Amino acid sequence: MSREIVVALSGVRKTYRSGSIEFEALRGVDMSIAEGEYVAVVGPSGSGKSTLMNILGCLDVPTDGSYHLGGEDVSTMTEADLAVVRNRRIGFVFQQFNLLPSLPAWRNVELPLVYAGVHRSERRDRAVEALTRVGLGDRTDNRPGELSGGQQQRVAVARALVTEPDIILADEPTGNLDSASTEAVLGLLDELHESGRTIVLITHEHDVAARANRNLTIRDGLITADEPVMAS
Ligand SMILES: Nc1ncnc2c1ncn2[C@@H]1O[C@H](COP(=O)(O)OP(=O)(O)OP(=O)(O)O)[C@@H](O)[C@H]1O
Ligand SMILES: [Mg+2]
Repeated sequence: MSREIVVALSGVRKTYRSGSIEFEALRGVDMSIAEGEYVAVVGPSGSGKSTLMNILGCLDVPTDGSYHLGGEDVSTMTEADLAVVRNRRIGFVFQQFNLLPSLPAWRNVELPLVYAGVHRSERRDRAVEALTRVGLGDRTDNRPGELSGGQQQRVAVARALVTEPDIILADEPTGNLDSASTEAVLGLLDELHESGRTIVLITHEHDVAARANRNLTIRDGLITADEPVMAS
């Protein structure tokens, strides 16, 4: 079984500069992720997980090295081109949900489709479909404040899905959830993975990482382990 490589990083470095002080948060990261993989990136606080996530998500560019996403070299793109790539290829789920509080769930979910230029008549249908997929077909008109934390994160997952992205990137998606909601969101990621989605999950919790098929460990800006997760 040979699958397309979706993510390929080679020699990726990221140096932060503040005044005369430089800090190298990524020190030469090589990794590739194939279509349909479910990968967790684990590592201690300050190891470079969010820095890596920002690069994978085209929110930031490497200082050095290359990044190919879906075959496209994104490491040298302009901000405007990166915005298009983000919208087209990546679905984001963040620790803090990042929903707009004044908009009903379906309006939050349709937003990436607005940016993608999808016609309004199609947007609502796709948003409702994505919400149904995450088990919130009966909550489409509720605003985030009327939903539980776990339900809000499911809305965020629906928003990440609605564009049918190449990868879903989740940075500590269960960090703000109680154990029941954590289970619901992880169950949803399992389902998405089973239906063929490529998922990259960033977490510092080993039991969360164990839900993936493959764990990448990052320490001090370097990948120090790359191991399959044994079925339990
Ligand atoms: N904008 C910045 N300017 C300077 N240093 C930064 C910047 N962002 C991150 N760093 C440093 O880079 C290193 C990696 O940070 P990063 O946020 O990627 O860690 P992390 O693994 O996500 O940690 P956590 O688990 O606490 O979220 C840290 O030492 C951090 O202090
Ligand atoms: Mg972080």
